[in-house]
Amino acid sequence: MTASTLGGDVSLRVAIVGSGPAGIYTAEALRKQATVPLRVDVLERLPTPYGLVRYGVAPDHTSIKSIAGYLRGVLELPDVRFLGGVEFGRDIGVTDLLDCYDAVVYCTGAMVDRRMGIPGEDLPGSVAATDFVNWYCGHPDMPGDRFVLDSPEVAVIGVGNVAVDVVRILAKTADELRATDVPQEVLDRLAASEVKAIHMIGRRGPEHAKFTLKELRELGELTNADVRVRPEESAADVSTASRQIRGNVEVLQSWAARGLTGRPRRLDVRFWMRPVEILGEGRVEALKLERTRLLDGRVVGTGEFETLPVGMVLRSVGYQSVPLPGVPFSEATMTVPNEAGRVRDREYVAGWLKRGPSGVIGTNKSDAAETVRTLLADLADRDPVHRTDPDELLASRGISPITYEHWLAIEAAEAALARSLDRGERVKLLGIAAIRPGRARPCQRGP
Ligand SMILES: Cc1cc2nc3c(=O)[nH]c(=O)nc-3n(C[C@H](O)[C@H](O)[C@H](O)COP(=O)(O)OP(=O)(O)OC[C@H]3O[C@@H](n4cnc5c(N)ncnc54)[C@H](O)[C@@H]3O)c2cc1C
Ligand SMILES: NC(=O)c1ccc[n+]([C@@H]2O[C@H](COP(=O)([O-])OP(=O)(O)OC[C@H]3O[C@@H](n4cnc5c(N)ncnc54)[C@H](OP(=O)(O)O)[C@@H]3O)[C@@H](O)[C@H]2O)c1
Repeated sequence: MTASTLGGDVSLRVAIVGSGPAGIYTAEALRKQATVPLRVDVLERLPTPYGLVRYGVAPDHTSIKSIAGYLRGVLELPDVRFLGGVEFGRDIGVTDLLDCYDAVVYCTGAMVDRRMGIPGEDLPGSVAATDFVNWYCGHPDMPGDRFVLDSPEVAVIGVGNVAVDVVRILAKTADELRATDVPQEVLDRLAASEVKAIHMIGRRGPEHAKFTLKELRELGELTNADVRVRPEESAADVSTASRQIRGNVEVLQSWAARGLTGRPRRLDVRFWMRPVEILGEGRVEALKLERTRLLDGRVVGTGEFETLPVGMVLRSVGYQSVPLPGVPFSEATMTVPNEAGRVRDREYVAGWLKRGPSGVIGTNKSDAAETVRTLLADLADRDPVHRTDPDELLASRGISPITYEHWLAIEAAEAALARSLDRGERVKLLGIAAIRPGRARPCQRGP
C-alpha cells in the first residue's frame, strides 16, 4: 500500500466517464468481476443517466426503453455513485481523474452526426438525425421549439435503424405517441405536423439496407401511412444472402406488390438513389438524387437524376464520436485506439467510443466486460494510487454534482407531469440542463 493513498482508503477507485449502457455495464462488470474492494463513480455531463437509452431509443419502443430499469439496479449497487452534471474536458480532465482514481474508463459514446459532403447540406431545413432524435427525446441540449414540421414532403437519407425510427415518428399521429414520454411541447408540434409524404432514401439496394427485419416490419404496420416501394428498386438476388437480408427483401417486395389505401400519410422507400445536392434559396426547397449502381463494390452514379420537392432533409447517415481532450483519438476510425479496452496506463475505453457507432444496447455488455477484464488484470498486483478526493476537487471548482437522489426527483417530477397531462407513465421535462442541486427547479409548460 502506498503512503499516498487517500486517508488510508484501501479500495480501488475507478471513474467511468459517461452513463450510457457502456458506462453502466462497465460499472456492473467491475462489481461482478472484482475480487478486491472497489468504489466506482459514474461521471455524466447531463443531469440524467442512461445515455441513448433515454435520449436515443425511440419513445414508442417502450419495451426497449424499459432496459433503464435494469441499468438503474446497477446505479443502486453499493459503492457505485452517479455524479451527474460533470463534464469531462470542461469540469474535470485526465490528470485530475488519474489523481483521484486508480483507473478511468471513457464511455462517452458517439454524440454527433456524420456529414454527407454534398452542396446545400447546411441550408436551414437540412437536419442531422442526431438533432431530430434529440428533439423528440427531449435531450437537454435541444429546445422543444427547435422544429416546426411545416413541409408536406420530407426526405430521410439512410436506411439504417435510426432512419426507421425517424420515419416512424414522422408517420405516426400525435395520438399514437400520446402515451409515450415525448415532451408535451414536442407532442404539440407533432400534432400540428403538415407532413404528408416521407421519402426514405437508400444509396444501395434493399439487400444492403442496414435496418433489421423487426424494425422494418413495423413500418408496414403503420395505421397512419401507406408504404410504397417500386418493384424495380426492390428486385435483388438474395439466394445466398443471410436470413435477415432475405427477410428484409421479402418484406419490401411484398410492399411493392400492394396498393395505396388512402391513409393520411405516405412513405416511399427508395433504393439505388444517392443525394447529390440539397437545393433552395435560403432554406431547403428540394433534394436532387442520382440513380446509382455498384462498380467493383463501390457506389457510383449513373447520370440519371431525379428531384424531390421536399422542404426538409433529415440526414440519418450514422453517428460519430468526438475526441476527448487529452485522450488519444484516431481520426481514421473516429474511435479511441485500444487493445481489448486498454488505452494507456490506467486509462480504458468501452462502448461506441471504443468500437464505433454500431450495435445494439446488449452489444455494450460483452464489450464492457472485455474492458473490465483488461483493467482488473492490469491492476491486479497494484496498490491503490489515488491521492485526491474527487468530491473535494469538484467542490473546489464550484461544482456540486447531481446525485442519484436528485435524478430520482427528476423521475418523480416526470411521472407527476404525465399524471397531470393524463398521459403515460412519464413525460420528459424540458429545461433540465439548468438543474443544479439547491437551485431553481426545472421549468415546464403545464397542460
Ligand atoms: C437514435 C438511436 C436509437 C437507438 N435505438 C436502439 C434500440 O431501440 N435498441 C437497441 O438495442 N439499441 C439502440 N440504439 C443503440 C444503442 O443506443 C447504443 O448501442 C448504446 O447507447 C451505446 O452506448 P454508449 O454507452 O457507448 O453510448 P451512449 O448511450 O451515447 O452514452 C454515452 C454517455 O456519455 C455521456 N457523455 C458524453 N460526453 C461526455 C463528457 N465529456 N463528460 C461526461 N459524460 C459525457 C453522454 O451524455 C451519454 O450519457 C440506438 C442508437 C441510436 C443512436
Ligand atoms: N431498434 C434498434 O435496435 C435500433 C434503433 C436505432 C439504432 N440502432 C442501432 O444503432 C446503430 C446506428 O444506427 P444508424 O441507423 O445511425 O447507422 P447505420 O446502421 O450505420 O445506417 C446508416 C445508413 O446511412 C447510409 N449512409 C451513410 N453515409 C451515407 C451517405 N453519404 N449518403 C447516403 N447514405 C449514407 C448507410 O448506407 P450504406 O450502408 O450504403 O453506407 C446506411 O443505410 C446501428 O447498429 C443500429 O442497428 C438500433
